[in-house]
Amino acid sequence: MSQEDANLEARLEEQETFEPPESFVEQANVTDPDIYEEFDENWPDCWERAADLLSWDQEYDTVLDDGDAPFYEWFNGGELNASYNCLDRHIEDGAGDNVAIEWEGELGETRTYTYSELLDEVESFAATLRDLGVEEDDIVTLYMPMVPELPIAMLACARIGAPHSVVFAGFSADALATRMNSSESEYLVTCDGYYRRGDPLDHISKTNEGLADVEHEVSDVIVVDRLGDDLEHDLADNQRDYDELVAEHEDASVEPVTRDAEDMLFMMYTSGTTGEPKGVKHTTGGYLSYAAWTSHAVLDLEPDDTYWCSADIGWITGHSYIVYGPLALGTTSVMYEGTPDYPDKDRMWEIIEKNEVDVFYTAPTAIRAFMKWGEEYPAQHDLSSLRLLGTVGEPINPRAWKWYYDHIGNQECPIVDTWWQTETGGMMITTLPAICEMKPGTAGPPLPGISAQVVDAEGEEVEPGEAGYVTVDKPWPGMLRTLYNNDERFINEYWEEYSDADADEWVYFPEDGAKLDEDDYITILGRVDDVINVSGHRLGTMEIESAVVGVEGIAEAAVVGGDHEVKGEAVYVYAIPEDGYEDQGDELEGKAEEAILDSIGPIAKPEDVIFTPELPKTRSGKIMRRLLENIASGNELGDTSTLRNPEIVDEIAEQVEAD
Ligand code: WTA
Repeated sequence: MSQEDANLEARLEEQETFEPPESFVEQANVTDPDIYEEFDENWPDCWERAADLLSWDQEYDTVLDDGDAPFYEWFNGGELNASYNCLDRHIEDGAGDNVAIEWEGELGETRTYTYSELLDEVESFAATLRDLGVEEDDIVTLYMPMVPELPIAMLACARIGAPHSVVFAGFSADALATRMNSSESEYLVTCDGYYRRGDPLDHISKTNEGLADVEHEVSDVIVVDRLGDDLEHDLADNQRDYDELVAEHEDASVEPVTRDAEDMLFMMYTSGTTGEPKGVKHTTGGYLSYAAWTSHAVLDLEPDDTYWCSADIGWITGHSYIVYGPLALGTTSVMYEGTPDYPDKDRMWEIIEKNEVDVFYTAPTAIRAFMKWGEEYPAQHDLSSLRLLGTVGEPINPRAWKWYYDHIGNQECPIVDTWWQTETGGMMITTLPAICEMKPGTAGPPLPGISAQVVDAEGEEVEPGEAGYVTVDKPWPGMLRTLYNNDERFINEYWEEYSDADADEWVYFPEDGAKLDEDDYITILGRVDDVINVSGHRLGTMEIESAVVGVEGIAEAAVVGGDHEVKGEAVYVYAIPEDGYEDQGDELEGKAEEAILDSIGPIAKPEDVIFTPELPKTRSGKIMRRLLENIASGNELGDTSTLRNPEIVDEIAEQVEAD
């Protein structure tokens, strides 16, 4: 960092604040600061405001049922269908010709779906799924890249009451198999491939490899043909071409199935402390209300807006803020297939200019990359359509915040730095853009109705200026209901730490560290469990470790996150070679990398693999991960005297420097 940058960072850290621009406030959805108090006083009935954004087939009887906490239930007695809420009702209101999805392919082609057209596609695919035998409550796995057929398939599943389980297309064959095995999903929708930097990328071979490891029978696999002649591939007996099937159901009409508010809308696997991914369960009424409410209140979306969230639908951000939230509100949602620097580094700004995007939501890692590429790229484009900017997925450093504010928002757009998780379903801690002043690097106060605090190890709230842990001591409609087929793990992972079960007092623990300031703004410091955040992607270090120790010649491994200028965090592997393999470092490194690619995917590619005869351990034999993190990040190492083997630390540090 140059001296000038360091000075700027320091100044911004001193909490320079920014007021919401007047032009934004004048038109915003939520402008009354009393909303915080109103929600507090009227809790939990305040959440009717979220439910009111939806159309219910049957009104709910109760807002919150906490009789079996922490298995909370929301809007019990209510009935609705998510695809009806995202499609039909807008058409009934006369908005059928408004654009629902504006898809930008990487090669420059586009596909536009109005709400009416999208409904037609969804009905055809829903009829297809039904014909193949998919019934209500069957889990359908979607292993698809950013093609329009992905949201179509999600909404088709929702229409017939079949929960979807989307597996990020960048995940490996193993990851697909693990997830299909865990959910016992018998149906798969996949794709032959997609384009990356102009080149066709084979996805079907990876799919087939994964399917070979699925332990139960998969009755049907539907394959979207994205690559045409660019990829030759054969279909197995149980594999059918998406377009052919849909053509057979072209004029099908499929009534939306009425679902109970608490019926599962989808599940989504996410990384946790152990190697086994967690199947987070989200519901139809609570999740959809919450996605719609936060899209309305925080992203300020209106039906007239063109809005772009650059996440991948394979992650929760894409579920809530490309598909369900924006479509529930009748907004135009832009979807981009490819990479931000193809064909050139101005691709994002070109898409914003061309579509006159009003609201843009992206990740800090992307912003840091844009910053590195230079302000000349956004400067080539007219970005004046923008009204609001957002970030998600990881802490944003003040300097990147300021760059986003200046060069993308032209100092005229508020920025919402939104903290939330797969488990929370939607945003939890962030500013309301027309009400709150912004502090770069600080997510903001908890949203109205969200009771989040920063506590110490004993659960006592910390004083302003002090660091602690985020907790949430009241439920909210978008929360996960449980982990699929694993209520016990649900309790252990999220509720054990700070709850008092005997007193029936339940506190949700998201496993993030945070700092509180005198205005009750919360600055998120990052995960405190064995999960790392690489480019906004959540990865379990244990999953990576188990891949590495599977390599012949590697005896033991520890995986940690180290600071990275663009990615936020990067993967560092420390490994002990088995006897006799000490001289084969380069070869082992290659094998370790390969094992990680095979078991997780390229997002987990290590920045460095460091071989060492020992790992630093405490006297009780626990690996000192903090120390390894500090070595990877080039930080001060602090006191190592409590280690069983302090001498190893310098040796490792020297090696990292030499690499
Ligand atoms: C981190 C993504 C700081 C956090 C929506 C959380 C953030 C994890 C922010 C969840 C933010 C998300 N500032 N950190 N604005 N947003 N995180 O489940 O550590 O993929 O626990 O959900 O990302 O990641 P997940």
